[in-house]
Amino acid sequence: MRAYDIIKKKRDNKELTKEEIDYFIDKYSNGEIPDYQASSFLMAIYLNKMNSKETTYLTEAMMKSGEIIDLSSINGIKVDKHSTGGVGDKTTIALAPIVSACGAPVAKMSGRGLGHTGGTLDKLESIPGFSVDLDSEKFIELVNSEKIAVCGQTSSIALADKKMYALRDVTATVENISLISSSIMCKKLASGADAILLDVKTGDGAFMKTLDDSFELAKAMVDIGCGMEKETIAIVTDMDEPLGYAVGNSLEVIEAIETLKGNGPKDFVLLCETLGAYMLVLSKVATDFEDGIKKVREVIENKKALEKLKTFIKNQGGNPDVVDDYSLFDKAKNTYLVKSQKDGYVNKIKAEDIGISAMILGAGRETKEDLLDLSAGIILNKKVGDYVKEGETIATIYYNKEDKLENSIKMILDAYFIEENKIDSKKLIYGVVTKDYIKKY
Ligand code: URA
Repeated sequence: MRAYDIIKKKRDNKELTKEEIDYFIDKYSNGEIPDYQASSFLMAIYLNKMNSKETTYLTEAMMKSGEIIDLSSINGIKVDKHSTGGVGDKTTIALAPIVSACGAPVAKMSGRGLGHTGGTLDKLESIPGFSVDLDSEKFIELVNSEKIAVCGQTSSIALADKKMYALRDVTATVENISLISSSIMCKKLASGADAILLDVKTGDGAFMKTLDDSFELAKAMVDIGCGMEKETIAIVTDMDEPLGYAVGNSLEVIEAIETLKGNGPKDFVLLCETLGAYMLVLSKVATDFEDGIKKVREVIENKKALEKLKTFIKNQGGNPDVVDDYSLFDKAKNTYLVKSQKDGYVNKIKAEDIGISAMILGAGRETKEDLLDLSAGIILNKKVGDYVKEGETIATIYYNKEDKLENSIKMILDAYFIEENKIDSKKLIYGVVTKDYIKKY
């Protein structure tokens, strides 16, 4: 077999066999196939696409290119939740204690933020003392005893994906459904969960900007997961405006805590309830979606989820008192109120621009090496559908770096579309994809 012939076959739009895909990924992983041939291979896939059989073979080959984590010593059905990334997405911080308090084990490996999207690990590290560096023994022990632990994804899983993702980034081959779905799913499948719940974001702040593309990505990932015998469900959810009001690490943790106290923003609460219910169904703790919703609401109302969050923080070295005393978080030195320049209804808040504005302040990374300012960020005072008067505050900036303020204000003002007429309210949940059906709401 030769790399040249495999590239030529895909260039000519022919279906690749499992052996050919295995050969290419294996040889690329170990350095026998150079980047210039892999680039050409990726472009051929980008232009001619892969069918679902080829995509599953590609995922499996990438999954096998690194370590495969064994979580079988953890009792119960482990469900992994993965979001394709968004702005203000602090879901894991509220959802993990909710699901755990309902009785399902949460063994979560999370990532860091890059660009306009945040990462769970960075958010958790804004809690004084909190550590995401758990060795596998400690991780398994905590999940078995307390049903909850979150750690960083090991760098030894899906090695081929690491190389290929970096190459895609510089060869204009990122935005392809087969390449994105295999890249996400090979890491999820290598992480050892028994079932997978995917939150596929759609809209301005998401990878997938249109609903059709988002459903196609959701279907591709569900097909891969189920094809490899892991029950997988995907929910397509809105990322046209940021989720909740808070964007920035400690600000988002505080919003997640408030949600567990019963004071969460409407959109964020709905997302936690929906994802939580599906996680409970997948882990067989709930009999169906309605039972799952009931259980999620119960543990928020009786504060069991809040207590679980305290236990989770304490177990990972953090100070659980932050839950009752937000002054224990590092505070940004300055705040700035961004005022509306006209009267009208907020018809759109470009999520990506708000994410970039927070990143400029230090809440996110432009490059992997950037250091974060965990106290910096933005609180949106107005969301889509709200009426605002000229001079009224639309957003509050929390910052330490004076030189970044002007740029951040400008991006926020550009992100807000304030118009005379109110638009119809937007959906948060667009649909659900399972192996048996695609339901669009
Ligand atoms: N996230 C990934 O891990 N891979 C992609 O290709 C896109 C998003």
